[in-house]
Amino acid sequence: MEQIINKTTAFVKETLKGAEAGHDWFHIERVWKMSVHIAASENCNLPVVELAALLHDIADPKFHQGDELLAPQIAGDFLNSVGVDPDVREAVLYIIRNISFKNKSDAPEHPPIELQIVQDADRLDAIGAIGIARTFNFGGFKNNLMHDPVQPPRLHMSKAEYKKSEGTTINHFYEKLLLLKDMMNTRKGREIAAERHRFMEIFLHQFLREWNGEPDR
Ligand code: ADP
Ligand code: NI
Repeated sequence: MEQIINKTTAFVKETLKGAEAGHDWFHIERVWKMSVHIAASENCNLPVVELAALLHDIADPKFHQGDELLAPQIAGDFLNSVGVDPDVREAVLYIIRNISFKNKSDAPEHPPIELQIVQDADRLDAIGAIGIARTFNFGGFKNNLMHDPVQPPRLHMSKAEYKKSEGTTINHFYEKLLLLKDMMNTRKGREIAAERHRFMEIFLHQFLREWNGEPDR
């Protein structure tokens, strides 16, 4: 298995060359490490967790005209080419199809533990200091406004609305990032999310104070 993991890291690094900085190899590496960390407290199939973490953003629909079939196709072809067991391959592809926040309304009712772990790791990378940095990077990439006091957050967006990635970066905190701590699947994930969530609240509080020109203490 170690050899397959090595081939997978090389494939992912190569494929994600030039990716937006919040969805590049370093995002994958953080999610991979966090998945392994969470998996240590759970009874799960570790190779499935590792391969799914490594391949989960191999062709993010946001960067491929919304195409949701491309990622499972690329990942499936790759896993065939390295001769992964068909059961492992299917389990990994299932995770890739179901991990995303925008698909939460049609999420499986009893997700396998391996999906729960990788989803928690991916969500943890969306919050805290790294989450803040990724969100402003993506907002800049889309040329969105950082903040606009007259635009309220849209709290019940459809999948199609969410996928447009419009709106301000500050509103993205209220539309997604602050919701994640209550969506965590695993105990370890919940613990880490609680701390990262507090950090985002402090950040937002300070951001809005400065925006509004409130004097420093
Ligand atoms: P997933 O990877 O679960 O499908 P998203 O596509 O919602 O999740 O987003 C992944 C990351 O990309 C977010 O955590 C955030 O950092 C960034 N992002 C996505 N949409 C926006 C947006 N509209 N504004 C700012 N950042 C965004
Ligand atoms: Ni991701």
